[in-house]
Amino acid sequence: ETTDITELLLSRIRDVADYPEPGVMFKDITPLLADPAAFAALTDALAEVARDTGATKVVGLEARGFILGAPVALRAGLGFIPVRKAGKLPGATLSQSYDLEYGSAEIEVHAEDLSAGDQVLVVDDVLATGGTAEASLELIRRAGAEVAGLAVLMELGFLGGRARLEPALAGAPLRAL
Ligand code: PRP
Repeated sequence: ETTDITELLLSRIRDVADYPEPGVMFKDITPLLADPAAFAALTDALAEVARDTGATKVVGLEARGFILGAPVALRAGLGFIPVRKAGKLPGATLSQSYDLEYGSAEIEVHAEDLSAGDQVLVVDDVLATGGTAEASLELIRRAGAEVAGLAVLMELGFLGGRARLEPALAGAPLRAL
C-alpha cells in the first residue's frame, strides 16, 4: 500500500552504500529521527499496531528498536521492556542465542519484566534475515508471555525474514510499515 505516510517515511530513510561492509546497502533512519513530523507519524502508526494487536507490553530490540519502541509504548499507554545484547542487564535474565552469517549473537531480557498474561508487541527498525526478531520471540515465550505481534519500520523482503519467522510468530501478525 502506498500512502502519504509511506512516502514520508521512505523519504526520510537514507541508503548508505557499502556500509558497514562492501556490498551492503545500509538503511539509515537518523534523518527520520531528526524530523519531528516523520518521527511522530511513525510513532502514531506503530502505536496503532499496538492497539490493533491488543498488546499489553512493548519490547524494543537494541539499539534502534529502543529509539522507536519507547515512544510507541508511551503513546499506547504500555510498559516498555528492553531486549539487550548479552551482558548489559544487571538483574536475573533469560538469554537466547542465534546464528549470524559468521558466528553467533546473544540477546537477553530481565526475566521479571515478562510474565504469563502479557501480550507483547516487538518493535524494531529493520527486519533483515529475521534472526534477531526470531530470538526475541523465543525469549518472550520462554518468559511465559504471549506474542501479540512484530512491528517494524522496514522489511528487507529479499532476505526472507518473513518466511523464517512464520513458525515463531505462530499466527501473530508481522506488520512492516
Ligand atoms: C539490526 C537491526 C535489527 C537487526 C535485523 O540491528 O536494527 O535489530 O539488525 O537483522 P536480522 O533480521 O538479520 O536479525 P543490529 O544487530 O545492527 O544492532 P544495533 O541496532 O545495536 O546496531
